[in-house]
Amino acid sequence: MSNDASFHMSPEEFRRWGHAVVDWVADYQRRVESLPVFSRVQPGQIRASLPAEPPQRGESFETILADVERLILPGITHWQSPNFFAYFPANNSGPSILGELLSAGLGVQGMLWATSPACTELETHVLDWMATMVGLPEKFKSTGAGGGVIQEAASSAVLCALLAARERATGLQSNECGCNGKLVAYTSTQAHSSVEKAVKIAGLGRANLRLVEVDKSFAMRPDALAQHIARDRQAGLQPCFVSATVGTTSSNGFDPLPELGRICREHGLWLHVDGAMCGTAALCPEFRHLQNGLELADSYCFNPHKWMFTNFDCDCFFVADRAALIKALSVLPEYLRNKATESGAVFDYRDWQVPLGRRFRALKLWFVIRHYGVEGLRHHIRRHVELAQEFARWVEASPDFELTAPAPLNLVCFAHRAGDDFNRQLLERLNQTGKLYLTHTILNGRYTLRLCVGQTHTEAAHVRQAWDLIQQNAQQLQP
Ligand SMILES: Cc1ncc(COP(=O)(O)O)c(C=O)c1O
Repeated sequence: MSNDASFHMSPEEFRRWGHAVVDWVADYQRRVESLPVFSRVQPGQIRASLPAEPPQRGESFETILADVERLILPGITHWQSPNFFAYFPANNSGPSILGELLSAGLGVQGMLWATSPACTELETHVLDWMATMVGLPEKFKSTGAGGGVIQEAASSAVLCALLAARERATGLQSNECGCNGKLVAYTSTQAHSSVEKAVKIAGLGRANLRLVEVDKSFAMRPDALAQHIARDRQAGLQPCFVSATVGTTSSNGFDPLPELGRICREHGLWLHVDGAMCGTAALCPEFRHLQNGLELADSYCFNPHKWMFTNFDCDCFFVADRAALIKALSVLPEYLRNKATESGAVFDYRDWQVPLGRRFRALKLWFVIRHYGVEGLRHHIRRHVELAQEFARWVEASPDFELTAPAPLNLVCFAHRAGDDFNRQLLERLNQTGKLYLTHTILNGRYTLRLCVGQTHTEAAHVRQAWDLIQQNAQQLQP
């Protein structure tokens, strides 16, 4: 082989295939609505269609792209279909996809300010914009003692918040000597499983996580929280952390932040607030009341990668006291030392997260905000809420179905009156049609269907079609 042989893709080839990939994505956006939303492949089917051995010789990009269509697409559940109503959305948009592409093209590692100043400074700036856009208290901005950072997920945000809380509670001793088994964390029975995972990773131990009882609207009960804390204190334990939720995953419950915040202040507990999906609603002033009390929180997160037209991954995590987070997470080996860090004049975001390396994620968020403007984002979020509210009214007016939880925003929890088995079969049947995708939960012991409106291109016709399908299939199932 000659020394000047190269297997790389040249810039010209990249240009050609880059155009082809963008064309593919644009075509996908056009046709996604016609594809079965829920992938019906069997376990192992996709792997069985792939060659057993990796290629020894490189293949043409044309063949590779054709295999995406042939081998991969059947195994895709189409999260970007307007008929996707399952879980919580993970929506995207043109500007976000292009921001993602540019980020890959630049390929920078933003672990330190010095490793790409624009990566850090754009992130700080855009997170301050976000704080303004969703009406966060000033203390969460970088202009004061706080600031925002992009994490890959809400799960990482709650873990970082808990690590900071743990170190604040123990005067940095857990970092030195490990946990002493006495620290206790609290969240509601409706909170996301990421809180339990964080408690396990942070070394508090699952036995030291209290799942606080909720009221009829699935919101954490402050009186129950106060009782748990009192009991734990009496037992010689050390309460240190509360994770509250604005918009719980199963039930869209909103924890009462003012009351919880007061309890946390009284006992010196770190209050983290998880607004993973619903935080985006706060772009619209009329929904901001749902996050009243945030001024009492120590940290807050929400995911533009759920409902704000920004590709996964992009969680905005804000802290009121960045020093607490940085002290908990910072480790400075010699090989990362540099003048800018030592000057103290810059943020090194590696100290605000678990991994060292980090992608240039602010680019896509910047693109989304600039493309839509606050007005454009509000318009679409309001529309989604209206559509979900209309769906909730249809459910309420139906003799066969009923709401199983309040529906304050874009998630509707509902069930047919015929019981759990019926609802289970109904869900299975609906998803088999390929015309929509819904998921379920259990609320108060009752099997419940969930319809969440949040995909970028969901319109009235899609929600109408979903309701028609639900009713038709329920009728066909009637005993
Ligand atoms: C309230 C809430 N918190 C956390 C998460 C976890 O999100 P992520 O995938 O960003 O960790 C979810 C996911 O649906 C959620 O609904």
